[in-house]
Amino acid sequence: MTTRRLVLTRSAAVIGAASTGLLLPQIVRAQSDKVRVGFMLPYTGTFAQLGVAIENGFRMALDEQGGKLGGREIEFFKVDDESNPAKGVENATRLVQRDKVDVLVGTVHSGVQMGIHRVARDTGVLNLIPNAGVHVATRAQCSPNVFRTSFTNSQPTLALGKAMVERGHKRAVWITWNYAAGDEAFEGFEKSFTEAGGTIVKKLGLPFPNVEFQALLTEIASLNPDSVACFFAGGGAAKFLRDYAAAGLNRNIQLYGSGFLTEGVLDAAGPAADGVLTTMHYSDSLDTPRNKQFRLEYAKAFRSQPDVYAVQGYDTGLLLIKGANAVRGDMNNKQALYAAMRGAEIDSPRGKWTMSPAHNPIQDMYLRQVVNKENKVLGIAQKAVADPATGCRMA
Ligand code: PHB
Repeated sequence: MTTRRLVLTRSAAVIGAASTGLLLPQIVRAQSDKVRVGFMLPYTGTFAQLGVAIENGFRMALDEQGGKLGGREIEFFKVDDESNPAKGVENATRLVQRDKVDVLVGTVHSGVQMGIHRVARDTGVLNLIPNAGVHVATRAQCSPNVFRTSFTNSQPTLALGKAMVERGHKRAVWITWNYAAGDEAFEGFEKSFTEAGGTIVKKLGLPFPNVEFQALLTEIASLNPDSVACFFAGGGAAKFLRDYAAAGLNRNIQLYGSGFLTEGVLDAAGPAADGVLTTMHYSDSLDTPRNKQFRLEYAKAFRSQPDVYAVQGYDTGLLLIKGANAVRGDMNNKQALYAAMRGAEIDSPRGKWTMSPAHNPIQDMYLRQVVNKENKVLGIAQKAVADPATGCRMA
C-alpha cells in the first residue's frame, strides 16, 4: 500500500516538476511517510481527565476524515506531562528530537506550556495548543508555528464581571490556584467586574494543585461577600464545589467561575454544583445541529459525555485538517500550511470561530448555569471576545 502510494506520489511529483520546471525532492520524501503527531498532555494528576478528553476529541475529528491528514496516514506518539512545569522542556524535547513529530499537540497546564513554547520556538516545530491559556504564547511571544484553539486565560472571565453585576452581585471575593492560569483569569475578572461597577473584597489563593480549601472557605464566610468568583479546573474543581457546599456557603453566597469550574466534573460534584453560574466558550446544551451531532457521535465513540476540553481537542483536529488538506499532506510546506490555519474559520460545536492574527480564537462567551448535572446556556454573555494580543509581532 505504502509502496503503491509512493510510486503514485512520485509520478505525480515528476509530472508536477516537469510542468513547473521545479524539482521537488523533499516533497516526495515527506509524502511517503506517515504524519507524526505527538500528544503532550496530562494523563495523571488533577488534570488527567482533561488530557483524555482532548485526545478523544482530536482523534474523533481525524476519524471523521478516515483517519488521515491531507491524504497521509498518521502515527501517534504520547507523553504524560503530569501537569509538571519542571519537566516541560524535557518532555517536549523528547517528542520533537526522539519521536521527530511533525506536530506537537499540547498542553493543558499554562506552566508546562511555557516549556513546550520554548522548544517550539527553538526548533520551529508546529505546536497546537488545545487548552493552556497562558497569555504570553499569543501575546509578546506569539510565533508563526504556534496556534491555540482554546482561549487565553482572561477570555472567559472578561465576560464574567458584567454578568455578575447585572445579577445584582457587586461585592465579590476572588479565589484561585496561584499560577499563571489563575493569575491571568483574575486579570479578565478584575477588568470586567470593576468596569461594571463591582468591588473585589479580597483575592485569595493557594498553590497548584493543592485542594485544602477549608481555611480559605472559613475566611470567605467571615468576609461575607455577596458572591465568590474563581478559577479551578479538573479534580480540584470538583473538590472545591463539594467543599463550598459542605461549608454551607452555597446557600447565600452565589458562586461564579470561569466555566472550567463546572466542566467534566458534574458527576463528581453532584448536587453541590447546582445553580453555579459560569462564563465559557461552550455549553453542553447549545441547541444547534452541529453541537447535537457532535455530542451524539462523541458519546457513541467514547461512552462518556463530551465537555469543553473534548470540543477544544476536536477543534484542534479540525484546524490541523484544514492546514494539512491545503498542502495535501506536505507538512514541510510551512508557509502554505500556516497561511491556511491562520485564515481558518472553524465550524465548531461551540459555534463558528475565527483565528486571530495572534493565533488565538475570537469567540462568543456564553453564560451558563448548572441544572441537573448539565451546563445550561442562559445566553451569550459577550459576543466575539478577542484577546488583546498585547505585544504580538508575528515574525
Ligand atoms: C491552564 O493552566 O492554562 C488551564 C488549565 C486548566 C483549565 C484552563 C486553563 O481548565
